[in-house]
Formats: sequence, structure tokens, C-alpha cells
Amino acid sequence: MDGRKITVIGSINMDLVTSTTQIPKVGETVLGQSFHSIPGGKGANQAVAAARLGGDVTMIGAVGDDSFGRTLVDHLTHQGINTKNIIEVNDVSSGIASIILSAADNSIIVVPGANNSITPEIIEKHEDIIRASSILLLQLEIPLESVIRAIELAKKHGVLTILNPAPIQKLPKNLLEMVDFVTPNEHEQELLFASVEGTEQDLAELKKKCIVTKGSKGVVIYKNGKKVEIPSVQVEAVDTTGAGDSFNGALAYALCEGLGIVESCRFANVVGAISVTKLGAQTGMPTKKEVEEFLQLHKRS
Ligand code: RIB
Repeated sequence: MDGRKITVIGSINMDLVTSTTQIPKVGETVLGQSFHSIPGGKGANQAVAAARLGGDVTMIGAVGDDSFGRTLVDHLTHQGINTKNIIEVNDVSSGIASIILSAADNSIIVVPGANNSITPEIIEKHEDIIRASSILLLQLEIPLESVIRAIELAKKHGVLTILNPAPIQKLPKNLLEMVDFVTPNEHEQELLFASVEGTEQDLAELKKKCIVTKGSKGVVIYKNGKKVEIPSVQVEAVDTTGAGDSFNGALAYALCEGLGIVESCRFANVVGAISVTKLGAQTGMPTKKEVEEFLQLHKRS
């Protein structure tokens, strides 16, 4: 293992965010209040969350040969992330997410575009980077077979893996067995376990590696087989987009810094809470100093 390196393999999207007081029904047109293009994508968001906190982060992903792609890579570079392994794919658009934001909650349609170009062969070309990582962090916005290959390589080299199973899809049991931590939200956890085939005992074992994020209701983890509930920090939410990504990036950072699992989740929980106080997935992601200031303030109130 070479230093404390976090590698994120995943999606890079431009988020096209429309705010509206009224979500249109099928066939209806409504007037919205504002529109913003904001860098996003679950992979990129998680990479930014870890980098803002001070993590040494490398991102592996793909963008199209278009203006969104160039903006997205420049943006990640400015966040201090190693972007040398982000490929630019010809004749395909960069990933985009069309986000409707209403009353601090959101509905999202993702068009993966170049994110789908991350094949298992591309993952294999990056085996050295995976091997040199302390933590490998993945989500499900690139092809599943590539996620599986990356986790196999990480396992081969003894690298700790975190899989954020979002957007949720049916996952093979052996993938969940290989991974060290799985970080679904409540809804994803339900669907995940409804679709995994295995005995009751298999499922009980898999549940023990889950870190379940429950938004304002906190986080649930299992430590030494025992359920631990970590309460959330109450904040005024402006936009919950990317709260889970902030949590995952911060979790990777904290584990990489050597914190225990409960402490890491506590820390990640605070980062997730701070991140929802601004519009956009990445806009509200705090630096380490901002987390410390928030905690000081919170202690006093
Ligand atoms: O988790 C939030 C992210 O999901 C957004 O940034 C959007 O790009 C989608 O990937």
C-alpha cells in the first residue's frame, strides 16, 4: 500500500438542475424558478467530497469529447483530484443528469453517455492504481461488470472497498460477499436484499457489512455483529442532491485517516448534513476546517 490514497471509479455528469415549486404531471407544462448547470455524477461527487476534506484522490472515469466533458475534468482538477486517468471518448456525449428540485427534494434522470464506456478492460489497465490505493470507492453509474472487475482486483491486492449501490440494481451475491462495506440508503437496502438470492444466514451475514444512510434519521451500522445507530445532525436542507455522495466520500476519507468504523460514520454523517445546506451536489461539500467549525458551533448550541 502506498500512502493513504483513495481511488474513486465512477460516473462524471453535468447536473442540469431546474428548481420548481410545482412538479409537472405527464403532459403538463409548468414554469420553473431557476436553472443551473452544476458538475455532478455520483463518482465525481464522492471524489470531490473526499478531496475537499484533504484526501489524496484519484478518479477513474470517462467523459465525452464535448464542452461538458472539458468543464467537468477541469473542475475535478481544480478540486485537487488526480484526473490523469479520466478518458475522453469520441462521438459520445458526457453523462448528464436532469434534476428537478422541488421543496429541497429531487427527482433525477441520468443519461450515462461516456460513463458507459468504462469497460472491464479499461479497469484492468488501471490495476496498478487500484493496487496502490488504500481505499477503492465505487457506485453503480458505470457498467456493473466493470464494478465487479474493479472489486475483484482490489480484493486481489488487499485494498479496502466501499460500494455505494446507487442507483440500485440487482446485484450478484458474490459481489456483495467480496466488498468490505456496502452503503445503501433505506430504500436501496430494501431492494438490494429483496433481489439477492441466498439463505437467511447468507443475507444476515451480508447485512452486517451494510452502512445504511437514513437521511435526517441518521445512519445504522453493525459493529461486531451488533446494531449501532448514529443520530443525524439537524440542519436546514436546501438541496439533498448528493448527500449520500458526501457521506461516502467522507467515509472513505475518514477510514483512510485511520478512524474506526463508528467514528468514520459519525464524521461522514456530519459532512453529509453540511452538504445539503447549499444548492447542488458538490457546492455544499465542506473542507475539514468547515467541518471542525460546524462541530464547534454545534457543541455550543
Ligand atoms: O447522487 C447525486 C448524483 O446523482 C447527481 O450529481 C447526478 O449526477 C446523479 O448521478
